Amino acid sequence: MTTLAGVRWGSATAAYQIEGAVSRGGRVPTIWDAFTAQPGSTTRGDTGAQACRAYDNPETVLDAIDWLDLETYRFSIAWSRIITGPDGRTNPEGIAYYRGILEELRERDVTPTVTLYHWDLPQWLQDRGGWTDLATTEAFVHFARVAAREFGDLVNDWITVNEPFCAAFHGHLSGLHAPGIRHEPTALRAALVQLHTHGEAVRALRAINPDFRIGLAMNLSDLAPATEDPGDLEALKRADLVENRLFLHTVLQGRLPEDTAAYFGAGAVSAAVEGIDVSRIAEPLDFIGINYYEQNVVRAAEPGTDAIVRGIEKLPVAEPRSANGVAVRPDGFTRVLLRVAALAPDLPIWVTENGIGLWDYVGPDGRCNDIERVAFLEQYLDALGDAIAGGARIESYYFWALMDNFEWAHGYQLRYGLFYTDYPTGRIMPKASAERYRVHIAAERADLVEIDRRDGAAA
Ligand code: FCB
Repeated sequence: MTTLAGVRWGSATAAYQIEGAVSRGGRVPTIWDAFTAQPGSTTRGDTGAQACRAYDNPETVLDAIDWLDLETYRFSIAWSRIITGPDGRTNPEGIAYYRGILEELRERDVTPTVTLYHWDLPQWLQDRGGWTDLATTEAFVHFARVAAREFGDLVNDWITVNEPFCAAFHGHLSGLHAPGIRHEPTALRAALVQLHTHGEAVRALRAINPDFRIGLAMNLSDLAPATEDPGDLEALKRADLVENRLFLHTVLQGRLPEDTAAYFGAGAVSAAVEGIDVSRIAEPLDFIGINYYEQNVVRAAEPGTDAIVRGIEKLPVAEPRSANGVAVRPDGFTRVLLRVAALAPDLPIWVTENGIGLWDYVGPDGRCNDIERVAFLEQYLDALGDAIAGGARIESYYFWALMDNFEWAHGYQLRYGLFYTDYPTGRIMPKASAERYRVHIAAERADLVEIDRRDGAAA
């Protein structure tokens, strides 16, 4: 394996997935509160009302960070805890909560990366049109400015939006995520409004502090055609447009991929870009965040079975795969990173999420021996090394997730954590994968000390 020297090691969480206390501390309702209140929206009717209780017990999270000796922690600030409604007023309790966490991180010498939008849109904004309305952009820019002013002495690294693909297409087409809409032109509009909002927020944050490092986190999938038949190659192109290029190319190049109108229809595209200058989406970034989970083999199918991309079918995923059927393909991870590097060779890449969902359990010995996640971690770190060897400028790696948490439509059953969360008590304990990651981080940090020592001696 190539050296991974220079990569910062971290792990990630998001507000709605860990905090709980949804109606306390001055927080206002979000689309996820409304969505999870609808019967059938999540497995077993789970909601984020309690989650990992991180609002009440932030020390649990900090202890896990200490235990792993992370260099950086990615988490999100809930818009709904900072801005109370249409008049833009701020909530001192919410601000105090996040300042408390940020001060503790500073004391521990852990660098925070703060995500501003990790899917928890305030419901009052949804009621006014949510991600289809440019008033949401204005409201977000106000929130971003408040966050920069209130936390900017403690935070230098910002992520505007997390996975605009999921928020747009799962939120507005498959209906699997909040707000649970199912309408393709609305999904396309939600994608464009989020990307536009990202660009505006980058400019607003930079105006406050030109030294901030700003990026966004997008999930990209590795896709392959079932055969070389023209029909399957077309299917691949459609899937790649919707899942990858619509986001990656637009953000980096400031124009929609040329096949966007052919796929979505010219009418839907002109409605989606109304009031938006697409060229301004490509505001220069300090890094691009990549969340990698998925690899799929696609074929043409009429009618298709995919909930999002028309006219395609994704083939059943062969082993090894996660508990929810996602392919374990470290080579896909390398390919995605190299693809981004080829498009933007000078732009640093931060792997802002990477992880695997499993049905983890505590065994009779009282431990959670998640051997699949241990193997996953080792293979994906090797794959990260391959991407670096291939020329990708990888600066950070965040394992998803620090602890098991509210996994959106899957609720609490599907677990992604390095730490096992015992939901009834709120206690957490390191899984075997946490031990493996801790050893990795310690070795990498020791190597760095060794390199520094050698460089020092050479100087
Ligand atoms: C990503 C989300 C993150 C988490 C992981 C498993 O799509 O950004 O919140 O749910 O998947």
